[in-house]
Amino acid sequence: MKTIIEPFRIKSVEPIRMTTSDERREKLRGAGYNLFKLHATDVLIDLLTDSGTGAMSSDQWAGVMRGDESYAGAPSFYRFLKTIERVTGFTNVLPTHQGRASERLLVEVMIGSGDAGRGKTVPNNAHFDTTRANIEHSGAETPDLLTEEGSTPTAIAPFKGNMDVAKLRALLARRADDVPFVMVTVTCNSNGGQPVSLANLREVRTVCDEYHKPLFLDACRFAENAWFIKQREPGQQNRSVQAIVRDTFDLADGATISAKKDGLVNIGGVLLLRDPHSFHAASDLLILTEGFLTYGGLAGRDLEAMAVGFEEVLHDDYLRYRIRSTEYLGEKILAGGVAIVQPPGGHAIYIDAARFCPHIPRHQFPGQAVVCALYEHGGIRSCEIGSVMLGEHAVMELVRLAIPRRTYTQSHIDYVIEVILEVKARAHELPGYKIVEAPPALPHFTATFAPIQPLKSS
Ligand code: F0G
Repeated sequence: MKTIIEPFRIKSVEPIRMTTSDERREKLRGAGYNLFKLHATDVLIDLLTDSGTGAMSSDQWAGVMRGDESYAGAPSFYRFLKTIERVTGFTNVLPTHQGRASERLLVEVMIGSGDAGRGKTVPNNAHFDTTRANIEHSGAETPDLLTEEGSTPTAIAPFKGNMDVAKLRALLARRADDVPFVMVTVTCNSNGGQPVSLANLREVRTVCDEYHKPLFLDACRFAENAWFIKQREPGQQNRSVQAIVRDTFDLADGATISAKKDGLVNIGGVLLLRDPHSFHAASDLLILTEGFLTYGGLAGRDLEAMAVGFEEVLHDDYLRYRIRSTEYLGEKILAGGVAIVQPPGGHAIYIDAARFCPHIPRHQFPGQAVVCALYEHGGIRSCEIGSVMLGEHAVMELVRLAIPRRTYTQSHIDYVIEVILEVKARAHELPGYKIVEAPPALPHFTATFAPIQPLKSS
């Protein structure tokens, strides 16, 4: 049997409101051709993000009902703590409302408040936007130390998320005193959801030890990373995902986690810190800005959902389906002639929009053209990651199709494939875009656009 079925059945459904392309053309115009401004009810298949958009299991919903809302010492917190201890091996655990809250606390504890980071530098394989923004907010620099193959979208390699250890060594040899800590993001979102090997993490750890530097993980997608290790890293095939996850966390001095990804919840985060002094400092800050130590800005019911989610995400059947269904989308559109970042990542497929629309120059935003066309033609919402989002820093013009966890079935994905291939067939007709209005910072959220020629109906 070749078909890998969704390892769940559906107990509660959420209707999708069907729309026509004429209707969607109107909605696009009304939203200033910015898909962040659409009402979600006007979207058929929402691939804007895999963060907080997954479906919870019946066990998680049962946990929601069990949630205890005591301000201090709720049993829900202790259930959450026990799961996180078992999964990660860390005993100093703080709940936060999402990943970026953990990042903010980490920066304040490890770098300091105000502009204490000026002159400092925090390397990562590749920082996610919010991690970079939190570190840069302190004045510190945020170099990305991906390998050559990790920065080449067409290179096919098993662990394109790996950090370039030679670059890390060179940075520390030059500026050890300026490096408060080293980070590694698993999987690496910024280059396509690419995994990091245990061998690479061990090498990074060795270099950190030589220079007495703490190593932190941005571990949002730790389970997807472990599945890739089990499939691809020599000697790991007969080990359990849980054992690989433990090896991963054992190498780190701490971690920031957005539970909205591999925690399988709609909201929540975690901060892990091995060092008791840092843990106490972070605990004080948590109380100041997030909430008391046993709820950290969440409700007891959220902690229950996380306690179940962090266990469920480690099941082989779930991870096999999860990684295979993302790969399935990538394989099919690649076979249809669509250039993508290779190999397919864990949580998303990235279309190379510059190759999808070679007639649209960068300053007319090929990614925006593809994002608008996929919505207009098929009601799919995707996300531009190119010159709109990153401005001058964009090295590629990408469109991300992020797959929410346990939310869409294979027929939804088959529909997405059809839409992409139909749009591809008339890609030469797609217009470029110009910006009508844009705020100075983070323009992709609120900017408005206009097509340079009128849209042809599809
Ligand atoms: N780190 C990584 C690698 C992420 O992908 C994200 C979020 C965060 C940190 C921040 O977590 O949103 O809970 O504060 N990524 C989402 C995305 C938003 O669409 O890729 P958060």
